[in-house]
Amino acid sequence: MPPGHRHPHGRPAAEVDPDAFPSIGIVGAGPVGLTLGRAFAAAGWPVVAVASRDPARREAFRSAVPGARAFMEPAGLLDEVSIVFLTVPDDAVAAVAAGLRLYSGQALVHTSGLLASTVLHPAMAAGTLAASFHPMVAFADTDAALVALRGATVAIEGDEPLVAVLAELAEAIGAQPVRIPPEGKAAYHAAAVLAAGGFVALLDAIAELGRGAGLDETGALTIYAPLVRQNLANAERLGIRAALTGPIVRGDAGTLRAHLAAMHALAPGAIALYVAAARREIDLAVARGALRPERAATLGEILDAEE
Ligand SMILES: NC(=O)c1ccc[n+]([C@@H]2O[C@H](COP(=O)([O-])OP(=O)(O)OC[C@H]3O[C@@H](n4cnc5c(N)ncnc54)[C@H](OP(=O)(O)O)[C@@H]3O)[C@@H](O)[C@H]2O)c1
Repeated sequence: MPPGHRHPHGRPAAEVDPDAFPSIGIVGAGPVGLTLGRAFAAAGWPVVAVASRDPARREAFRSAVPGARAFMEPAGLLDEVSIVFLTVPDDAVAAVAAGLRLYSGQALVHTSGLLASTVLHPAMAAGTLAASFHPMVAFADTDAALVALRGATVAIEGDEPLVAVLAELAEAIGAQPVRIPPEGKAAYHAAAVLAAGGFVALLDAIAELGRGAGLDETGALTIYAPLVRQNLANAERLGIRAALTGPIVRGDAGTLRAHLAAMHALAPGAIALYVAAARREIDLAVARGALRPERAATLGEILDAEE
């Protein structure tokens, strides 16, 4: 962090001692703001202020992070801190940033996985820095999220040397910082959505097929969750390509036809995902040299008939 100095507006910036931890303020006391506030404070970084429009959330933050001053408006907090974390919904980040005027020497950070730090530029002035800091954690429950932050990755991009400070902060809370270029953030976030919600959608299709076999959801999870875990472990150990098994790798056209016929009769909602996954499996198997192109073409024609 550059040392604090006078703001172009003529107001004093919070002094930044390069040898001390920068003081942190949090705007938006929702699940992410509250959890990060607690995590930063527990790691010994001073969380000195929170801005929240809601009295109950202000109080909850102050009791969880002792010593933090509470403000209704972000403007009040700006006089107190070196680094401002905007933990507001993605759709509100640009508008809230546009309502702020940072002082020289201050830094502004948002926690969106999708948006680049450039969305903060309306708030920036000479001598200010912007970055994004996205923990790969589901913040449904604050206590659980606090635990999950340990060992999670935090994607960081933005202005140096703020990025270096935030990497230090991520390590201080037990997380692993990773650098993502701003232009890669949407793809990074889409991958996270596929890994989280996309995976749950896949489980739902598996459960639908399970119902076709007479299983309830618990029964389906009992049977298929260990298989999911085994495949994940294989992919981590051997690599994704080498982890692929099943009828597609064997080029088994008869099995593919039987599966599709069963799905038409018992689980039509699972067909689209099954077909999309099968196409991807064919590509993987061919790339691995496990499936000859003629056999791949036969499998592809069976799938084409579904579209
Ligand atoms: N939830 C997750 O699992 C997760 C994980 C990683 C990153 N993130 C990112 O972290 C950020 C915050 O996530 P969240 O789940 O904590 O969000 P949230 O619960 O939807 O909102 C957080 C807080 O933002 C304030 N807020 C809401 N609407 C606002 C508006 N229109 N203008 C100004 N402030 C507003 C509210 O705080 P006050 O009422 O206290 O002012 C609210 O409690 C987002 O960018 C999100 O993408 C979320």
